[in-house]
Amino acid sequence: MGRRGAARRAGDRSAGAHSTPSSWHGARLTVKVALFGAGRIGTIHAEDVVAHPRSELAAVVDEIPAAAQRLAGRFGVRVASAEAVFEDPSIDAILIASPNDTHADLIERGVAAGKAVFCEKPIDQSLARARRCLSRIRGAEGRLFLAFNRRFDPQFHALRQRIDAGEVGEVELVTIISKDPEPPPAEYIARSGGLFYDMTIHDFDMARYLLPDEPATVAAAGSSLVDAAVRAAGDIDTAVVTLTTASGRLAVITNSRRSGFGYDQRIEVLGSKGMLAAENPPRSTVVASTQQGITHDRPFDFFLDRYRDSYRLEWAHFVDVTEGRVKPLVSGRDGERALTLADVALESLRSGRRLEVPAFDPAASAGGREGER
Ligand SMILES: NC(=O)c1ccc[n+]([C@@H]2O[C@H](COP(=O)([O-])OP(=O)(O)OC[C@H]3O[C@@H](n4cnc5c(N)ncnc54)[C@H](O)[C@@H]3O)[C@@H](O)[C@H]2O)c1
Repeated sequence: MGRRGAARRAGDRSAGAHSTPSSWHGARLTVKVALFGAGRIGTIHAEDVVAHPRSELAAVVDEIPAAAQRLAGRFGVRVASAEAVFEDPSIDAILIASPNDTHADLIERGVAAGKAVFCEKPIDQSLARARRCLSRIRGAEGRLFLAFNRRFDPQFHALRQRIDAGEVGEVELVTIISKDPEPPPAEYIARSGGLFYDMTIHDFDMARYLLPDEPATVAAAGSSLVDAAVRAAGDIDTAVVTLTTASGRLAVITNSRRSGFGYDQRIEVLGSKGMLAAENPPRSTVVASTQQGITHDRPFDFFLDRYRDSYRLEWAHFVDVTEGRVKPLVSGRDGERALTLADVALESLRSGRRLEVPAFDPAASAGGREGER
């Protein structure tokens, strides 16, 4: 990778605004956090908030009182309403781990209340709504961290570093294989926005993270082969998306909501001087060699295990952001760009055509400058 290409990557950021925790006492910072959403990923994040030496879980909000109570009880903290959190000046940050259709509203309310905001992907299922949200927080973009956690995965981060070091020369083809072990429950699908907005959104961001320049066209194919509930919701569960950048580099994303053998998360980066590949880490390194053959262990079951380190690392980064030590490594603008790719992919799927990604107009965009390349 040449220096020019490396300098234009999505991970390179300029300034954004920062909040500092209200609980600064001159000696030690403690970022007080309210968690929205006590489900699968909220539970993981809560563990990381509690484990971090400079953050503290102060409250849990969930629309299902029993879910909030279960998690709050586990950590000995209070259950709160959203209103109580936004009115409480002792809360420095909110952590949004509620369904996709709640994020934009909570980001706006959090920023308006002066909180730093850690938000799960995506900003919203609608690009227009996401843009409205970013427009409403203009001037405070540096308070928002969008949790594209895979950038913090040690394997994928190493890929990026080795690309930047020029180990495989100019990047030509990125292949991202991303399969869930099984489809989520129907009620999750109903609030997810669809495969491209919920699942492929991670892969769109990863493609941007690894490619030397922005995707300029998108061609998508998809089917509903795995789950009748997905089909009934009008969604797809199997997809192939091809991205082509302005300089002709390619990324191919393959998705399925069912793998049959665990969580399949692999990336290959082919360059002019060779190839880098990040394989599935096995659940154990035990290898059985017998007359029947040589058997390695399966991949991890799902994201909770496979990406455990990335959640811890992104949380540590967010604490640093909240304390004003660093700028967010993933911005609202990155979220907007990933959503744009999801929108074009859906349109391509419907039309059966390869489509151009609309030119990114910084004036129309509301995301500030922190995601600028
Ligand atoms: N980064 C990742 O690896 C990753 C993995 C899984 C999920 N996610 C994202 O995290 C979010 C949550 O996913 P999940 O799998 O944990 O879902 P989940 O269904 O397990 O949990 C969501 C929780 O939010 C609660 N909730 C609903 N509306 C709420 C509201 N208005 N305020 C507060 N709580 C509310 C629900 O009652 C539920 O307890 C989604 O946005 C999803 O896209 C990210």
